[in-house]
Amino acid sequence: MNEIPHHIAIVMDGNGRWATRRFLPRVAGHKSGLDTLRACVRRCGEIGVRVLTVFAFSSENWNRPAEEISGLMELLAMALGREVPQLMAEGVRIHFVGDRSALSGKMRVGLAHAEAATAGNSRLIFNVCFNYGGRWDMAQAAARLARAGEPITEQTIDRALALAHVPDPDLLIRTGGEKRLSNFLLWQAAYAELHFSDKLWPEFDAAALDEAIKDYGQRERRFGKTSAQVALSAGKKVA
Ligand code: IPE
Ligand code: IPE
Ligand code: MG
Repeated sequence: MNEIPHHIAIVMDGNGRWATRRFLPRVAGHKSGLDTLRACVRRCGEIGVRVLTVFAFSSENWNRPAEEISGLMELLAMALGREVPQLMAEGVRIHFVGDRSALSGKMRVGLAHAEAATAGNSRLIFNVCFNYGGRWDMAQAAARLARAGEPITEQTIDRALALAHVPDPDLLIRTGGEKRLSNFLLWQAAYAELHFSDKLWPEFDAAALDEAIKDYGQRERRFGKTSAQVALSAGKKVA
């Protein structure tokens, strides 16, 4: 069995292209992407991943056509109404990560409700990054520290960031063939192993996730050390 990453982060990209190839409106791709996400959450819980963080809407996605933005907002509202029972059944605790001030009051209530309802679950922590950007996160963390008059150190910044409740991601997957971060987890991805899949997000199935985890298992994570040092400390752990 492959080593299972503790924390997987995913840039769920390619919904629009998936829809366009089928002569469907882009929002149909986002709907199909929600089905993929549901299956991915289940699979992560089953195989022992402890934290899953997904990029659902970026700070820059406000630049999209109004129709697509409202379609995405409706999809989130619908998901909030429907998905909580499955999260409860699977022991999933949901957190929304991002700037909520731009969201409607009704939406904010819905997010808080889903978080409160699942707060007692601990099998899998599921972070949904919505209206999130790595730069927004660093700026809000710095502003928070300045307000509190705290010193600026790696530790204080870490604690002020929006993902302070989880360790950094071990594996960062991006679907859809693009090889960029698009302002996702700029701070936290410092030592994540990167896996790029050409599959469009609606097509990213359990086999594709397993492949990403297998790829991860073959990496040597050195964290600045030499390969010989890593081998030595791995040997010591076993002994
Ligand atoms: C990712 O899929 C989902 C969001 C950004 C909300 P895209 O909508 O970016 O799909 P492509 O990249 O256009 O195919
Ligand atoms: C990143 O995808 C954001 C999400 C998946 C939510 P984009 O499709 O918005 O990224 P770019 O614009 O191609 O870099
Ligand atoms: Mg895209």
